Amino acid sequence: MPNPAAGITALNKYLILNFYEANLINRVSFIKLDYIYNTLNEIVMEIRNRITELLGIQYPIIQAGMVWVSGWKLASAVSNCGGLGLIGAGSMKPDLLREHIKKCRVATNKPFGVNIPLLRKDVEELINVIIEEKIRIVFSSAGHPGKYIENFKKNNMIVVHVVPSVKYGKKAESAGCDAVVGEGVEAGGHNGIDEITTFVLIPQLVDILKIPVIAAGGIANGKGILAALALGAEGVQIGTRFAATIESSAHENYKRKITEAKDTDTILVLKKIGMARMIKNEFSNRVYNAEYDGASLVELKNMLGEKRERLGIFEGNEKEGMLEAGQSSGLINNILPVNLLMNKLINEYDSAINNFKKE
Ligand SMILES: Cc1cc2nc3c(=O)[nH]c(=O)nc-3n(C[C@H](O)[C@H](O)[C@H](O)COP(=O)(O)O)c2cc1C
Repeated sequence: MPNPAAGITALNKYLILNFYEANLINRVSFIKLDYIYNTLNEIVMEIRNRITELLGIQYPIIQAGMVWVSGWKLASAVSNCGGLGLIGAGSMKPDLLREHIKKCRVATNKPFGVNIPLLRKDVEELINVIIEEKIRIVFSSAGHPGKYIENFKKNNMIVVHVVPSVKYGKKAESAGCDAVVGEGVEAGGHNGIDEITTFVLIPQLVDILKIPVIAAGGIANGKGILAALALGAEGVQIGTRFAATIESSAHENYKRKITEAKDTDTILVLKKIGMARMIKNEFSNRVYNAEYDGASLVELKNMLGEKRERLGIFEGNEKEGMLEAGQSSGLINNILPVNLLMNKLINEYDSAINNFKKE
């Protein structure tokens, strides 16, 4: 039976959030009103499943590991709100990763994890750091976890691997991973070469795998979370939406570009040398034209050069940097603090599910 009180509370919380976003009430009033409704509300995204159990989190919302974006500030803020924060080791040297882990531990006593792209040249060193620092949750990506899983398991780690297709999902499961993230081609950053969308990837992974599936790619609001769960996912990994938060360590220009982007403003390029989705700019246009004209691998590598991601995401060069972001940019029009964003996601989810129950 739908709980009508929960429906009304969810609706009120949603309205208050909209008032805040439209600058009709200030942040202090928003937090007070939201707190009152939180205490009144009995059903607020009450989901218990294999992912919340496995990761020890309240909400099945995982903030994606992202180069130049997800340091200890973002990860701890998300974990403190009941989701799972991930430190993105992809742009960190081993010593810096250690520093972020230590800071994250001070900032939260909730579970958090580390994302390690396995194609990194110094991957062994990064793994040594997370073992020494007794990290319990690792999200691996970009590569095959088989070579490392024994070491992770020996050190009592929960291993979740990011996959772009069913084939890699099966490989991750047989290697011994505890769960997979199925990442659709809508996602920001590097993508699977087969360009499978979240909407068709997730149900296939869910049907074939025994381990739980987390959905990623194109999810930026509560309706998206509900849709992912309806497809059979037991959690969501959200990237671009968390990149546009106060706690994200990305440059303000990059965050602003996400909020300005419309549905058609991202593009997939670099298909031959490491496909990635990014916001269109002078750099991506140049690469797109070169690819269209049949540029060689060497020419493309030269065009990419070094440190493009850093230039765009961290240094904020809007024209020449690589502004990795997903199609969900079209759904994002503000930069929020993490606690408000988490409230927003949960409230939107509650409103969406209550709308269904009414019908
Ligand atoms: C700026 C940016 C950097 C990213 N860096 C990484 C990374 O270092 N490792 C990784 O596994 N995925 C990375 N991703 C992909 C995310 O982890 C996540 O799966 C994806 O953003 C989800 O799709 P969404 O952007 O539509 O939410 C990155 C994504 C973005 C937007």
